[in-house]
Amino acid sequence: MPFTANRAFKKAPRLIAGAKDMHYITTDGRKVLDGAAGMWCCNAGHGRAEISAAIARQADALDFAPPFQFGIPQAFELANRVSELAPEGLDHVFFCNSGSEAADTALKLALAYHRIAGQGSRIRLIGRERAYHGVGFGGTAVGGIVSNRKMFGSLLTGVDHLQSTYNREKQAFSKGEPQWGAELADELERLVALHGAETIAAVIVEPMAGSTGVLPAPKGYLKRLREITQKHGILLIFDEVITGFGRLGHAFAAERYGVLPDMITFAKGVTNGAAPMGGVLVHKTIHDAFMTGPANAVEVFHGYTYSAHPLACAAGLATLDIYRAEELFERARNLEPKFADAVMSLREEPNVVDIRTVGITAGIELAPNENGPGDRGFTALRAGFHDYDLMMRIAGDTLALTPPLIISEDQIGEIVDKTAKVIRAVA
Ligand SMILES: Cc1ncc(COP(=O)(O)O)c(C=O)c1O
Repeated sequence: MPFTANRAFKKAPRLIAGAKDMHYITTDGRKVLDGAAGMWCCNAGHGRAEISAAIARQADALDFAPPFQFGIPQAFELANRVSELAPEGLDHVFFCNSGSEAADTALKLALAYHRIAGQGSRIRLIGRERAYHGVGFGGTAVGGIVSNRKMFGSLLTGVDHLQSTYNREKQAFSKGEPQWGAELADELERLVALHGAETIAAVIVEPMAGSTGVLPAPKGYLKRLREITQKHGILLIFDEVITGFGRLGHAFAAERYGVLPDMITFAKGVTNGAAPMGGVLVHKTIHDAFMTGPANAVEVFHGYTYSAHPLACAAGLATLDIYRAEELFERARNLEPKFADAVMSLREEPNVVDIRTVGITAGIELAPNENGPGDRGFTALRAGFHDYDLMMRIAGDTLALTPPLIISEDQIGEIVDKTAKVIRAVA
């Protein structure tokens, strides 16, 4: 099983049979409150009939069409709909099937773009410590999770990392973007001085690092990164696999931060988790640079058999209809202060060393127990599921709450209540 303690799981499996709205249903019939939107995917909640009906209709009409040299209208329609939600200029979409593929696609496009533009010396990629960009070789290399990297050799060469934006001493119990830390972006100047700007292709960052425990970007940090990348001709990629589609109260976090990156990766929420899909939003200037050379020649030597799969496109279009009709991004924005206040009330619970919130997302960091880092978190995950009917995500000893955006105010209270019980149970 992926990213799972297999032996522990088999002793006490956490098996799921169904889902509706804010709940999962276990194989033994229990209703478990979904505090994780599945895995940051199901922003519109579960069992959305409009999405499953669209998938069924599409399967009847067209099961598969080759995406190389052929296309389906729904792919273009979805690309237009996604780019309408993105900051102006990010006008083109390259579809793939996951966040990992989106990260690797964006990194490859960055390298290819510079080569086309006559700057083939730009081969370095800069990531950040405590970043997660999926599990492809590129994403793992620019990622900054030690355990994800150390099993797999040297990964890509020519990669360097900014330091993580998290500093508990200076940021503990921040609501939203921490006040301290914008200056950490200046470290990019140090890397530019070290390697030479002419060797750096791109910087990739998550506007909020989700998988390593909910680390929102400090106030002003992303703007500063944009200024520095622009100054040196380096592309800036936002990995919005988690933050896209409303999680931070906007279609994309780029809008929340008023920053225009050169590319945005997305996945998860684009289909509400109902079909695998990812993609890269690309700025017009990058797209146009590829559209040169002989008109009959392939422009981008990259793609997947299942790029823009018909079922995923149908799921994506139905999902975006729901987001728009139910104004879920605005809903998240309006709920954010209530969510943050409610989660911050856990501050006095045992072993809580920090709480971070942004959008409809929170990380509650617990001190490790005597068995070492991660054990208290894992024990909490199991207690939540088996004893308190709560599903959450964990990152080490940080409990991540990131429920569907349809959550009611009462259900926010319920999640916080259940989380308090879990924290006490693992004290
Ligand atoms: C920011 C980010 N990028 C990439 C990925 C990888 O996505 P996937 O698991 O769909 O490959 C994730 C997954 O959580 C993510 O959070």
